[in-house]
Amino acid sequence: MSKVTVIGAGNVGATCANVLAHKDIVKEVVLIDIVGNLAKGKALDTWQQAPVDGYSTYLSGGDDYAATEGSEIVVITAGVPRKPGMSRDDLISTNARIVKTVTENIMKHSKNPILIVVSNPLDVMTLACWRSSGLVSSRVFGMAGILDIARYRAFLATALNCSPKDIQALIMGGHGDTMVPLPRYTTVAGIPVTELIGKEELDAIVHRTAVGGGELVTLMGTSAWYAPGAAAAQMVESIVKDEKRIFPVCAKLDGQYGLHDIFLGVPVKLGKKGIEQIIEVKLTADEQVLLNNSAAAVKSVIDVYNNMQL
Ligand code: NAI
Ligand code: 2OP
Repeated sequence: MSKVTVIGAGNVGATCANVLAHKDIVKEVVLIDIVGNLAKGKALDTWQQAPVDGYSTYLSGGDDYAATEGSEIVVITAGVPRKPGMSRDDLISTNARIVKTVTENIMKHSKNPILIVVSNPLDVMTLACWRSSGLVSSRVFGMAGILDIARYRAFLATALNCSPKDIQALIMGGHGDTMVPLPRYTTVAGIPVTELIGKEELDAIVHRTAVGGGELVTLMGTSAWYAPGAAAAQMVESIVKDEKRIFPVCAKLDGQYGLHDIFLGVPVKLGKKGIEQIIEVKLTADEQVLLNNSAAAVKSVIDVYNNMQL
């Protein structure tokens, strides 16, 4: 693949473009923002980093979607982030309009791209993007699970004093405080995590993960960007290289896990066609209840979105 566009040159978008450039896996990254000079400047800055860090990916930026012509993958980070005291769902009235306009503009210039949504509230913005795109749902999905799992893995690595690289885990559900970390599917170099850590400490880590986005908003006054930008770039990499990596991704469910007409975090295989498989793991009755509760929370935000009648 040769061309990736990132919409939104703010904290997450610029980080994603920068991490992608360092991976040196695509010919060109185009950065678009409503503030054209911001996108132009950050793209130029990252291109000037190429001789220092040794990559060939060319970056350009601006506010004109003509530059996105023929993009194979587009990452959408445009929109407002939350401030302390806000939930992700509070962003819907602003971000739903932005995601709709952005998606329509992308589709005017690229035929059959793969769209990766990052803007919040993530699960509903992914639905909004899919509806505006006219694409099959295997080509429109959202980034959240890789980030949520990264937080979980980082907390576990600290608690166990081991490398986060050796921690494998699964988190499902919506990208909100109702997300469902699954300790039963968490291992450290193949060892079930429950053999290495006590229940109380693990429960505290699961809780800290679920509210992990809010922890950073409280610390910084805006939401996180390094791990989110890198997580979106990792999804792009799996597609570009057709790696068929398995990640939790916000995907459209048509009966999987007993859920319909909703975009929700589930494990999928990501390759050059986008989502190549939605993986259905066995859940216990308790885990299914947690997933259903998370789906219900997302559905209530979908209702708000539908009532906006965009
Ligand atoms: P930011 O404020 O740093 O950047 C957002 C950028 O979007 C700004 O530069 C703004 O000018 C631009 N923008 C606004 N309207 C636009 C439009 N119509 N067209 C093009 N660009 C437009 O915000 P940040 O921190 O980069 O976050 C971006 C979004 O990503 C937020 O909604 C945030 O909540 C979400 N987010 C989602 C995560 C996830 O796990 N899914 C993780 C982190 C952030
Ligand atoms: C996060 O979890 C804001 O959704 C974003 O950091």
